[in-house]
Amino acid sequence: MTNELKEIIDNAEKLKFFAFYGISKKLFDSLGDEIQTIVDCCCGNSFLGWHWLVNDNSLNVLAVDNRVTNRFREVNQYFKQNFPNLSEKHSFIERDVSKIIFPESSLVVALHACGNLTDIIIEKCVDKRLPFAVMPCCPNSRRIWWKDKSIYFEGSLSRYIDNLRLEYMQKNGYAAKFELIDENITPMNRIILARPRK
Ligand SMILES: C[S@@+](CC[C@H](N)C(=O)[O-])C[C@H]1O[C@@H](n2cnc3c(N)ncnc32)[C@H](O)[C@@H]1O
Repeated sequence: MTNELKEIIDNAEKLKFFAFYGISKKLFDSLGDEIQTIVDCCCGNSFLGWHWLVNDNSLNVLAVDNRVTNRFREVNQYFKQNFPNLSEKHSFIERDVSKIIFPESSLVVALHACGNLTDIIIEKCVDKRLPFAVMPCCPNSRRIWWKDKSIYFEGSLSRYIDNLRLEYMQKNGYAAKFELIDENITPMNRIILARPRK
């Protein structure tokens, strides 16, 4: 028998997924019908990608994480059993994101991509000219293109690093901006939304 989803993911956690989805969906809608695949990077328990599919069954979802957890198994099984018609549209690869080839016509999403995982994802998107919505997590400054930059530093390391990310994307021909979700949902609440300029 399938566990109820509410026993696996509590409402507080779902708020994070819904808020991130709501903002990413605005980017998706602005792209017209060019997107066929959602790449759910560092998918964790896999809820986000399934939520995309349940809301739009014309899409395919490629979920990636380098670690499979019990919660992933439970959530994935819940959706496969309750939405069997969507099963074939959701695929999962257990691998380092840096080793994944993002499909053409993808929107890449990443919720709480830790440290320089955010930068690896950004670089891969820029390389393939793909749009993306990434919510960074704990900051670190390992990426080479952060070095020797002068940019206004307003006291928050994560904001400083995100400003450098924005600058990097703008230099690489992207229209990029920040949007915030409610900080009561998560303190790491900034989303980078970016799409290649035509
Ligand atoms: C903070 S969790 C976020 C999970 C999920 N997106 C969420 O918000 O609940 C970060 C996730 O990134 C995964 N991860 C970390 N480094 C990775 C890498 N190089 N490639 C793929 N996944 C990675 C971890 O296994 C973990 O599931």
